[in-house]
Amino acid sequence: MELDPKNDGKLLNMENDEIRMIFSAFNYVPSFALRATMLLGIPDILAMSKEPMTAENIVQRLPCKNPAAAAGYLKRIMDILIVPGIYSRSLVSTADGKSHEAAYGLTPVSRLLVKDDVQFTLRPIALLHSNQFFSVGFQHLHESLLEDRSPMEMAFGKTFYELHAERPEISSVFQDAMTCYSKYWMNVIVHEYDGFKNTKTLVDVGGGEGESINHLVAAYPHIHGINFDLPDVIKNAPPIPGVDHVGGNFFQSIPSGDTIFLKMVLHNNGDEECLMILKSCYEALPERRGKVVIGEHVLDDDSTDDDVQFLNTLDLIMLSVFLKGRERSFEAYKVLLTSCGFLDCKLVKLSRGVTLIEAYKH
Ligand SMILES: C[S@@+](CC[C@H](N)C(=O)[O-])C[C@H]1O[C@@H](n2cnc3c(N)ncnc32)[C@H](O)[C@@H]1O
Repeated sequence: MELDPKNDGKLLNMENDEIRMIFSAFNYVPSFALRATMLLGIPDILAMSKEPMTAENIVQRLPCKNPAAAAGYLKRIMDILIVPGIYSRSLVSTADGKSHEAAYGLTPVSRLLVKDDVQFTLRPIALLHSNQFFSVGFQHLHESLLEDRSPMEMAFGKTFYELHAERPEISSVFQDAMTCYSKYWMNVIVHEYDGFKNTKTLVDVGGGEGESINHLVAAYPHIHGINFDLPDVIKNAPPIPGVDHVGGNFFQSIPSGDTIFLKMVLHNNGDEECLMILKSCYEALPERRGKVVIGEHVLDDDSTDDDVQFLNTLDLIMLSVFLKGRERSFEAYKVLLTSCGFLDCKLVKLSRGVTLIEAYKH
């Protein structure tokens, strides 16, 4: 093999194609390291401390059989989460003052993983995506091309929603993550978007256990809310003042309202299914200014390479779970909406990566 002159003998030179290739196959490691720190409650331990903590101090708060060894393991877990910006590392003096040792702290990213921070924790989302349920599905990604079945279905022999009905532990991890996603998005939506202020009856289609509509009805108490989802999901939904829970199938029909909210539902579905759902929405809206508000991550002409990489990753997760589910650009959503008769499609970009699409039935 001829040596490339840029491979100048430094093994760990990231310009070295061999190292880059091997490193790209290691991509799952930070995700599992992050999961380990969450399961150990490291973000919570660090949040309770005013100062960065050494690994030795952290393990004192854990029921470790061998604390000295555990501190060593923990350093190695924490160290690969420094460059991605998940935890911070600084040097502090050792107890004898003779040298320095590493101390770890939270960054704005890991602050979002603190369990008891009910307003802002994103821990359930990180727990869902680092769950073996997803990684087992991804082992079958290549076969999905050959068999035209979702990797998840190939792994478990069931579709995602069949699996939910049978495996309550998977369903609860998923619902916790959806509830968490809703808290994050709805917090932005109720503060920055005033498009629900004239709504009388709002139907949240595929609304899960009602987290999103709960926020909207609390912000606009004049709204009558209808939370619509599969009967198996609705049976676990808690009572919410001002909201009726209705079970059903959005491919058949959905309850009537003057505004329909569809958050993170269309990306679970292929174009044909989206057209069926949007037609059900169209039917459920009144003739004059009935409105659909879609909440999805979308790409547009201003998207950066990082935005595209994030959306492409989410897109592959949709493929892995639902096969036909996919992420779309604003233009692609516009095509779906206009072919169902919707007009005046508008992209509304809010802060923290939250995007909405509005469209009207005239
Ligand atoms: C990704 S979740 C989004 C939940 C919620 N909108 C949110 O943003 O957190 C998709 C929702 O669609 C519901 N769903 C799937 N198929 C459905 C169907 N045929 N009819 C009604 N709801 C359905 C699921 O149960 C799930 O709650």
